[in-house]
Amino acid sequence: MRIILCGFGVIGQSLVKLFDFRSEDLYAKYGLKPRIVGVVDSKGSAVDQSGLEFNKLVEIKKKFGTVKNYANTKNTMSGIDMLKNIEADVLIETTVSNYKDAEPGMTHITTAMKKGLHVISVNKGPLALAFPSLMELATYNQVMLKFSGTVGGGTPILDYAKNSLSGERITAFSGILNGTTNYILSNMSTGLSFDEALKDAKERGYVEADESLDLDGLDAAAKLVILANWIMGMKVTMPDVNCTGIRKVSKEDIKKAAKNNCAIKLIASCNKELVVEPKEVSNDDPLCVNGTLNAITFTSEHSGTQTIIGKGAGGMETASSILRDLLDIRQEIAKT
Ligand code: HSE
Repeated sequence: MRIILCGFGVIGQSLVKLFDFRSEDLYAKYGLKPRIVGVVDSKGSAVDQSGLEFNKLVEIKKKFGTVKNYANTKNTMSGIDMLKNIEADVLIETTVSNYKDAEPGMTHITTAMKKGLHVISVNKGPLALAFPSLMELATYNQVMLKFSGTVGGGTPILDYAKNSLSGERITAFSGILNGTTNYILSNMSTGLSFDEALKDAKERGYVEADESLDLDGLDAAAKLVILANWIMGMKVTMPDVNCTGIRKVSKEDIKKAAKNNCAIKLIASCNKELVVEPKEVSNDDPLCVNGTLNAITFTSEHSGTQTIIGKGAGGMETASSILRDLLDIRQEIAKT
């Protein structure tokens, strides 16, 4: 399977490492032989139609901070040019999520689909801003658009609701979809102020480069939009979410919640309306997880409620969700 990889940050590099150390069993068990024919990062690119070497890609990136130095002649081909000119089967889009215009991911994805490439995106921006039209474009071009890693990192939240609950009618769901704010709120419940908890989260590298994405609830809202479209069949985008972040949560709010045997959590919920807001959650509720964990409770018509808990971020975890999507695509292609 020929792959173009746009974005070569923590997730992209983890994926290449995963391909490297799993290559034998991926082929033996699933018949999957990933061949990366092009990689683009923010400073340049690397191309080889016969397949770029996995470990060399990671080494070059580590040494020079870009894949541009992979070959002797420094390659500056853009992602769009690569998608237009290099033959491939799948685009894996891992550039940074942007909720203003979703670029550069949006153009990468639309260019790839128009050319007949299947797409795996862990970039939430394009899906949060244009889920319904991207799905239409995928159908029109008869390609698959997969995005398991956009919600829950490696925890298969989207697959669970879509596939394991098939036949069910999910009536509502709510959850903690942002690990960073959960970490901050969990630490505040041990007595830290918001500023102290934020500083600690930053030191641990949890907070997005643009802290507003975490703190103002945009990351949770984007995940809520993706879930609502995919699971509930709603045709919604980011502006449809009523979104409040955690900046105004005080020590007093946390203490008051504790007196009620509750904790304050940033809850994203879909129950007719889409809302992200800090809420009191009972300590006895399975949703009430701490640290960077994510959790989501689905309420279904016949089977009641179920809660899934897992890590919502991390390079290798998210890379594992890309691998799941790639295997799905491989299996679908094999059927035709
Ligand atoms: N900033 C996100 C979080 C990363 O804290 O959950 C994963 O999308």
